[in-house]
Parts: sequence; structure tokens; C-alpha cells
Amino acid sequence: MENQSINQMEQRKGRRLLLFPLPLQGHINPTIQLGNILHSKGFSITIITTNFNSPNPSNYPHFDFHFINENLSEDEKSQPNIVALVQLINSRCAQPFRDCLAELLSNVLEEPILCLISDVGCYFTRAVADELKLTRMVLRTSGATAFFSFSALHLLCEKGYLPIQDSQLEKPVAEFAPLRVKDLPLIDSCAPEELYELVDDMVNATKASSGLIWNTFEELEQPALATMGQDFGIPNFPIGPFHKRFPASLSSLLSQDQSCISWLDKQKFRSVVYVSFGSIAAVNETEFLEIAWGLANSKQPFLWVVRAGSTSKSDWLETMPKGFLEALGERGHIVKWAPQQEVLSHPAVGAFWTHNGWNSTLESICEGVPMICMPFFTDQRVNARYVAEVWGVGVQLEKREREVIERTIKGIMMEKEGEKLRGRVLDIKEKATRCLCQGGSSYQSLDSLVSHILSFQS
Ligand code: UDX
Repeated sequence: MENQSINQMEQRKGRRLLLFPLPLQGHINPTIQLGNILHSKGFSITIITTNFNSPNPSNYPHFDFHFINENLSEDEKSQPNIVALVQLINSRCAQPFRDCLAELLSNVLEEPILCLISDVGCYFTRAVADELKLTRMVLRTSGATAFFSFSALHLLCEKGYLPIQDSQLEKPVAEFAPLRVKDLPLIDSCAPEELYELVDDMVNATKASSGLIWNTFEELEQPALATMGQDFGIPNFPIGPFHKRFPASLSSLLSQDQSCISWLDKQKFRSVVYVSFGSIAAVNETEFLEIAWGLANSKQPFLWVVRAGSTSKSDWLETMPKGFLEALGERGHIVKWAPQQEVLSHPAVGAFWTHNGWNSTLESICEGVPMICMPFFTDQRVNARYVAEVWGVGVQLEKREREVIERTIKGIMMEKEGEKLRGRVLDIKEKATRCLCQGGSSYQSLDSLVSHILSFQS
């Protein structure tokens, strides 16, 4: 056993990679999964991470962790403007990241680093890697279609679609069919100029990198991947879905409430609506009540994740109508955070009411679960439109009102339309499974990625 691990260490020698995640749940999960994927291909993995939102290193004894201080105040960390947060992370992490990296590179005789792989959102790593003469690749954790439309915000501005006017929300965006103006990847809480600046920084740093790794697969997003490959002029590696190679549960920043699974065990086959809006999105008090009553009136069993911070009240129980929970009895189960991948693969789950973050969207597709789409911002809007109109594996919730919610849930759970959606999602699930098998598109792309990285050795 000991000899075996010494052998493995010898084989990995000279094949060290450095990964840096954007410290947000939806970005940490795929970065850690990528680390595991590349480790399984014989690379040694070093992770530099901020102290803020750090994954637990004891879950990854096979990785080497280094921590930097991100220099953010508590108020800055919890601010709702996600664009401002990403910009702050970029400005405050540059120096500590540089110092940490310089120190690691000074140990070059011990083990050279082949390349840095950083999240597209961490565009500051471009200047640091250039200065320290380290090859840099990037990981895009969202879908290719969303990133493609995101990277075209300037063009959309020139064409007059942006800034968005309320009277134009339903207008089709001819250059990005089937998107409508309201599906464009914007964020209401942020000034358009602030977003354009962020997009420019991300796109420029990506184009200047030595390659782009995607958590997606050809069969799902071939047109966008092809266009991005041409436009960006750098090697493209769609090797997803990552979570089917390595689950995300260990990199969860919040503790996952396992009571979900025993509750699901008691429910009928495909009877439950699973409701979760990811790690950032929040609803106001009125929307919260509409969701609660919509779920109750649908008469379907439901598992609802109400994360701390996902409503305006610090304790969501305060927002619940009096007597609501008692009236529901065993039909509804509410938790603060769920083991989402396990939940989606449970036979009792019949639909996923989601915000369409990319991880949630992929996880739902890979478990063959049709979606009710309620996007909040940026890529979620594009993903939702594609889920409903292109891949045909979900429906958009048109209004956040109890009657509409009730009708949409009944439609997906009990009517013919729901069966059609399920048929299509099972079809794509099959493709997602096949692309990872020997000879499949992601399997081959991973082989190309490994060769590409090894070519940095000389
Ligand atoms: C963020 C952005 O909001 C999203 O638009 C972007 O695509 C990725 O970054 P987030 O909102 O957290 O992500 O959503 P998502 O991408 O779906 O990631 C959430 C992750 O948390 C998933 O891997 C999911 O399995 C996990 N999760 C979610 C849990 O483990 N438990 C839960 O209760 C909810």
C-alpha cells in the first residue's frame, strides 16, 4: 500500500497544477470537481483559496491547500450586489495571491507548476500570471450559450437592445434567437456600465489565456461552443458534466440537511416538487408568500430549501402566514440547505423548481428531472430560456403569483405536457451519460486537455 502511494507520487512528479476558485458556492463546486478530475488523470493539485468561503481542506487530503486573506469587511462579503463583490474580490486578492504564488514558484526545484487554472471571474490572475511567467488557463463555470451572449453585451448595446426598456421586454433578440430582451444576462441590482466593465475584464482575460475549460458537453451546447471557439481563438475543452465524475456534496459551504432523504423515502414515485433557488438569489416578502401559497394550493408534496438570507427577514418563519405550516402537515418539508444531488436523483422527485444557476440546471438534466424555471439574474435568464425553448426540458414560470404557480406545478406534475418534458430530459440525460464514456465527446475532450497541459512541460 505504502509502495503504491510512493509510486503514484513519483508518477505525478512534475505534473503539478494550481487552481484558484471564485469564492462563491456555484463556482467552488465545479473548481473542486475539476481538481478531482485532473487528479484522477495523474496531476498533483494545489488550491489557492481565500479564507472567505473556503472549502474544507480536510475533505481533500490529496490536494495541497494555501490560504490568502481577501481583505474584505463583513459588510462587503454579504452585500447583495454580486457584480460589486466580484470586482472587490479581484482588486483585493491580487496582492496576496501574487505573494502566495511567488512563494510557491520559488520552490520550483521541489516541484515546478505546469499551469494555473483560474475561474474566468478571477480576471486579476492574468496580470499576476504574466508577471510571474506562469501559463494560465481558465475555467468557465457557467454554460457556453450564456457566456456567449454575456460576451456580446457591447454588440447588444450598439443594436439598441440595451439598456433595457420596460416596453421592449418581450422583443426578440434576432442575433441571439430564441432570446428575448428580458432573457439577456443582466442583473437588475447593478448599473449596466458596472456590468459591461466586468464583462470586458472577464472576456479580455479569457482571450489572453492558454485555453478555456467548460463544465458543459458538446451534445448540449454545440453551436455556442463552436462560435466561442472561433471568436475567442483559444483552445476549448468542454469536459462536463463535472458532477457526474465527482459529486459536489463535500464542497458545500453550508451543512446539508439529510432529513430530506428520509422524508423523500416516504413519498410516492415522482410525486415531489423540489424547490431551491441556489446560493445567492433572494425573494421579497410578497414573492415568498406567493411561493408558499402556490405550493400549498398545488396539493403536491414539496421539498423547499429556504436558505438563510434568501428572504428579506432574518428568520423566514416570521414571514410564514400563521397556521400555514400546521395546515400543511407532512405534505411539505422545509430545510435550510439540501443535499441537492442526492435529492434530484431520488425516485420521489418529479420536478425541480429552480433559479437555473448552471450547476442546478446541469444537475437536473443529468438526473432526468424536468424544471420549472424562475431565473433571477445573469446567466440564469439565458439558461431558463434554453431549458424551456431549445432543450424542451422545462417550463418558464411566467409570473410569481400563487395562481400561476399552482397551475404550473399541476401542469408539470399531472398533465401530458409534463410527460413530454420528462421524455426529452431523459433523452438528454442519456447523452450526458454517454459523452463521459470511452469515445464520448467529453471523454475525448478531457484527453485533449491532458495533452494540452502536458505540452506546457517543455
Ligand atoms: C451562482 C450563480 O447564481 C449562477 O447563476 C451561476 O450559474 C453559478 O454561480 P448558484 O446561485 O449558487 O450559483 O447556483 P448553482 O449554479 O445552481 O449552484 C448551486 C450549487 O449548490 C449546486 O451545485 C447545488 O447542488 C448546490 N446546492 C444548492 C446544494 O448543495 N444544496 C442546496 O440546498 C442548494
